[in-house]
Amino acid sequence: MKPRNIIHRKPNFTFEEEFEKHWLGGSPFKTHFLNSLTLIFPTGEKYFIRSINKVLKKVKKKNLKQEAYQFIKQEAQHSMEHEKFFKVLERQGYDIRKLVGILDKLVTNYFEPFFSKESNMAITSGLEHITALLAEISLEENFLKEAPQKLQELFNWHAAEEIEHRAVAFDVLKEIDDSYQKRLLGITVAYVLMSAYAGVSTVHLLHQDKLLFKKETVKDFTSMFFTDEKLFFKAVSIFFRYLDPDFHPDKQDIDELSESFFNVFQMAKVA
Ligand SMILES: [Fe+2]
Ligand SMILES: [Fe+2]
Repeated sequence: MKPRNIIHRKPNFTFEEEFEKHWLGGSPFKTHFLNSLTLIFPTGEKYFIRSINKVLKKVKKKNLKQEAYQFIKQEAQHSMEHEKFFKVLERQGYDIRKLVGILDKLVTNYFEPFFSKESNMAITSGLEHITALLAEISLEENFLKEAPQKLQELFNWHAAEEIEHRAVAFDVLKEIDDSYQKRLLGITVAYVLMSAYAGVSTVHLLHQDKLLFKKETVKDFTSMFFTDEKLFFKAVSIFFRYLDPDFHPDKQDIDELSESFFNVFQMAKVA
């Protein structure tokens, strides 16, 4: 297995300019699906960092520990940069803070304490599998091509780093608890959680535009999940891929996707 190069970069985005409300190709559904990810990433990433921190002393492999530190730095940076975009959504008139506050409290006060640290790590590994899937689809199909340059950079930078560190949470889980039942629990809870959070946030934003049940919304939803990007079928097949007892994230040869992004998009590297 080739050594992983996980680099902490600081893109330091600023979002002073105004963006179209439906900035992704004029599609309310596609835009709000991406906006909903922006809203849930900070909650999710802070949860990943807490989960990995709680089990870090049980990780004995030196390399893996080092990778875990880099993972933490990358996730903290993602969370910070996406949170900056909240202000743009507020300037556009969206009410978002209440929803983010509720989702955050649900994770911190109820969801996380309900599970053991090993189970939280298994859920983190499952969620990392989903973010790597989204990253792969987004970079491979250039999903953001109709977005403003800066938002392409925000999402594609994040996606490329998700690909870079895609195996870290899985390897940490394997070292602290190698049971197949934990892996199964982790991916199942991860899919339910991710679908619920992304679904509620997307609906919340579309509802504020009064576009929830419009023909165009339904058409874009169908195209994204079933006919064009086929996200639903990819999500199902990738769920089963994770259940293969011999699964490992590095078996998916997708490093090229992140490398070619960083060849073009240079930014300050911290380590
Ligand atoms: Fe991330
Ligand atoms: Fe990640």
